[in-house]
Amino acid sequence: MSIQIVEMGPRDGLQNEKTPVSVEARIAFVEALVSAGLTTVEVGAFVSPKAIPQMASSDAVLRGVSHIKDAEFHVLVPNEKGYDAARAAGAQVVSVFAAASEGFSRANINCSIAESIERFKPVLARAKADGVKVRGYISCVLGCPFDGEIKPKAVADLAITLWDLGCYEISLGDTIGVGTPLKAKAMLSAVGAEIPVANLAMHFHDTYGQALANLYAGMEEGVRVIDSAAGGLGGCPYAPGATGNVATEDVVYMLEGMGVKTGIDMDKLLAATNEMAGLLGHPPVSRVASALNAK
Ligand code: HMG
Ligand code: MG
Repeated sequence: MSIQIVEMGPRDGLQNEKTPVSVEARIAFVEALVSAGLTTVEVGAFVSPKAIPQMASSDAVLRGVSHIKDAEFHVLVPNEKGYDAARAAGAQVVSVFAAASEGFSRANINCSIAESIERFKPVLARAKADGVKVRGYISCVLGCPFDGEIKPKAVADLAITLWDLGCYEISLGDTIGVGTPLKAKAMLSAVGAEIPVANLAMHFHDTYGQALANLYAGMEEGVRVIDSAAGGLGGCPYAPGATGNVATEDVVYMLEGMGVKTGIDMDKLLAATNEMAGLLGHPPVSRVASALNAK
């Protein structure tokens, strides 16, 4: 079995941190993650700096990592303005982000789900013409902080829309980490009935400590792409109570323990995590990082 890890540390990981991190430190973080073997890294977001000041200067970060070869860098774009800025900084892969619930869509990107799709249409059309790959996120696939329970069909319907618009992969976000394995399976099975399962990714936050179990359940459904963040960093300021992404260390430990080769050097990953934790002023929440640091 082969699993692709999409590293979220420099984007989702830092977007909710109180301590500002310099452009130089963000670039060094990406360099350290790639040297640890993470070949797909989300490095920033071209969103309003008033909304997410932590992602300001994502253009400088993207330019600053352009010397790194053999790695793919992703950035978030919510609209054409973001796409223009991302392209000017050299983006080859961009990610649009929608939500399965109206409440979160409104809170996060200030528009309805339908309006968000209208914003994405020109982005996808231009990306196609430019030869740029577009990933599509869906947030709140296992529950919403505002609207509560989310039906798998609502997720599947939105996934079809993003797929039909031309997204090459749909990343399914348990934004507030409320899912449990059987619910995750039911949701992934509903989406997988509509979209090739090879083109789905799991983006699970670990708020309730369920992320690894949910990932394992999703792997049983055939999903092979996992979003995770070094040290378990992450969270969305528009998702009250949400904590970090599942930690990359924890995912790597689980996969290697199952005989799945990740190509990731745990020592180097831990060093990248510890360096960033030092800058942020708090220890990593990753269980594996804590265990290894205690040795
Ligand atoms: P809006 O207010 O509806 O947009 O915001 P607007 O077009 O009316 O513009 C308002 C202001 O934003 C204007 O500036 C625009 O120029 C500016 P002002 O005139 O007030 O100075 N603006 C922009 N600036 C920079 N880049 C842009 C851009 N677009 C407009 N692309 C908008 C809509 C989406 C821009 C805003 O709500 C926003 O930036 N929200 C931030 C959303 C965000 O980044 N959330 C976190 C990432 S998503 C996430 O974490 C979930 C995920 O991890 C999956 C999961 O876990 O579920 C992906
Ligand atoms: Mg997220």
